[in-house]
Amino acid sequence: MLNNLHQQPQDKILQLMKMYREDTRSDKIDLGVGVYKDATGLTPVMRAIKTAEQQLWATETTKAYTGLAGDPGYQNAMIDLVLADAVSRDRIAASHTPGGTGAIHAVLELIGMANPDATIWLSAPTWPNHPSIIRHLGIKMAEYRYFDDASCAVDFDGMMADLKTVKAGDVVLLHGCCHNPTGANLTLPEWQAVADLLLTRGAVPFIDIAYQGFGDGLNEDAAGVRLLAAMFPEMLIAASCSKNFGVYRERTGIVLTVAPNTATRDTTQGNLAHLNRQNFSFPPDHGARLVTMILTDPALKADWMAELEAVRLGMLTTREHLARELQRLSGSDRFGFVAQHRGMFSRMGASPEQVVKLREQHGIYMVGDSRINIAGLNPTTVPILASALIEVGC
Ligand code: LMR
Repeated sequence: MLNNLHQQPQDKILQLMKMYREDTRSDKIDLGVGVYKDATGLTPVMRAIKTAEQQLWATETTKAYTGLAGDPGYQNAMIDLVLADAVSRDRIAASHTPGGTGAIHAVLELIGMANPDATIWLSAPTWPNHPSIIRHLGIKMAEYRYFDDASCAVDFDGMMADLKTVKAGDVVLLHGCCHNPTGANLTLPEWQAVADLLLTRGAVPFIDIAYQGFGDGLNEDAAGVRLLAAMFPEMLIAASCSKNFGVYRERTGIVLTVAPNTATRDTTQGNLAHLNRQNFSFPPDHGARLVTMILTDPALKADWMAELEAVRLGMLTTREHLARELQRLSGSDRFGFVAQHRGMFSRMGASPEQVVKLREQHGIYMVGDSRINIAGLNPTTVPILASALIEVGC
């Protein structure tokens, strides 16, 4: 039986992580996988997480299962964090999943159960695991234009033109903030225009929000998702705590859905719990419990927000440094987009050949589409990257 299996296509990001690990050069620079690193290259455990872990160790009395859709305390804390009071609670169903990827998977399965004819519209480009999971589940997909390669900014006219062809019942996946892989984001008026258009088309928005707090701030980054939640009868959300709480390996994510009424919310809630039961039964608790403790304790929350803000501002400083360095070396403003982009990533506009040269000749690892992880840089490596980019002809 097992010899009927075929090799699966390699995930580009994971493949790059492996290549980096195997490179023996001591001055190699990892700008690949989207994991935050401080200036020393460490992915730290956040202070509030450490404190919550100590408290949890001292007070936890059982490791018995939580609810199938997770602990209500976690659900409520995450609804507050992502949606605040944008929509009434009796329309929201919530389900704790292993990571943001687990949430995306559950949302896609839910779509397959509710409307197998729906097409999922993805931004071109998007996180490579989006189309991969959709393909795996056998759901139809299409692309809308999103990024203008020449200016490295959002191709808003192209996006709107493509979204005008979306059919009623189709699902449009939008990145809540900090677009992965480009770093180019919608302004609030653009969110409004997209929302107005999708509403008239009868489409269902699906927001993947994995970097809340890494762009313009915790509330600012949720402004688009909240705007849509207040307008649409139905909406799907996959949120992740991996990055903003630094709990990557604890697999802490959540599905939030907005239904037109409480009865449909209740049925959706039951279906989400059912999906968890089919896929893994009860969700892992540790990361979610820490997140809940932090979000419900004013002192822990304040400390977490302060550290997250420092992380966000650090990435902005790096962006400005890189943009300045590239302007100095190129004698032009064509890299100004680096300071305009937000979040962990920027797509630099290097060709696949230039990306290979950067890796082979300079030991600089970025994804093949020239996505860099801004948090992989520090004051020493910014000038190295800038001069390497110019040297390979960017
Ligand atoms: C990334 O885009 O690098 C992250 O979301 C990590 C991953 O799993 O791909």
